[in-house]
Amino acid sequence: MTAAVPAPRFFALIPAAGVGLRAGADCPKQYLPLAGKPMLRHVLDTFAGCPAISHTFVVVSAGDTLIDAVVGDAMGCQILRCGGDSRQASVLQGLHAAREFIRDTDWVLVHDAARPGLTIDLIERLISALRDDPVGGLLALPVADTLKRAVSSAADQSQPSSVTRVEETVPRAAIWAAQTPQMFRYGLLRQALEFALEHGHAITDDASAVEALGLQPRLVEGNPRNVKVTLPHDIALAELYLKGSV
Ligand code: C5P
Repeated sequence: MTAAVPAPRFFALIPAAGVGLRAGADCPKQYLPLAGKPMLRHVLDTFAGCPAISHTFVVVSAGDTLIDAVVGDAMGCQILRCGGDSRQASVLQGLHAAREFIRDTDWVLVHDAARPGLTIDLIERLISALRDDPVGGLLALPVADTLKRAVSSAADQSQPSSVTRVEETVPRAAIWAAQTPQMFRYGLLRQALEFALEHGHAITDDASAVEALGLQPRLVEGNPRNVKVTLPHDIALAELYLKGSV
C-alpha cells in the first residue's frame, strides 16, 4: 500500500526588508501609513482574510524595530528576521528559514509588501488558475502604453546635461507588466533562486529565476489597483484604491 500524498498547501511569503528610498519617506516604505494603517498591514490582513492561505511569513532585516508593532494581532503570521541585501536574497533566505514548515510540493505566494492594493479575489484568481499547473505563475497586466527604448547621449561641452531620446519603439503586443503574488512550488522556487545566486543572475522577481531554468511561468491577469508603491506619487494612488475612491 502506498502512503497518501498530502494535498499541497498555500503559504504567503512577504519580502519586507527593503528601505524603499525612492518613495521619499523617512521610514521604510512598507511602514508608511495608508488609509488608516501601515502599507504592510494591509497586505497581512488580506492574506489573513483568504481562507486558502495556511500561513504568512514576513521577511524583515535583522535590525528591524518596527515590525512587531505592525504585525501586532495579525492572524497566522510569523516574522522571519533574515532579510538580505536584495529582494532576491530576502526571498531565498526567507524560504530557508521557513523550511521546517513547508513541503517541496506546497505552493508559496511571494508578494511585495509594497503592493498594498492586493485583494482576496486576486489571490483566489491566481490560486484557481495555477493550482494544477506544472510550473506556476504570476499576476500581471498587459501593457497599454506604447513603449519606447531610450538612449541617452553623454553630456559634453555643447550639451551640459545628458539628453534622452527614443532609440526605437518596442512592439507591445506580447508585453505584460509583472505584479505579485508570484506563485511557485517551494522546491522549484528555492532551486530557481539558488541557481540564480550561483550564476550571479541579478533578478527583480521570482518568475525570472524560474524562467532561467528553461520553464515558462503562466500569466494570470491582475488588476491596476495592485500597484507597486515606488515613487511619492504612487502613495497617493495606492491610497485612492484602498479607500475605494477609484
Ligand atoms: O525596492 P522594491 O520596491 O523593488 O522592493 C520590492 C519588495 O522587496 C519590497 O516589499 C521590499 O521590502 C522587498 N525587499 C526586501 N529586501 C531587500 C530589498 C527589497 O525584502 N533587500
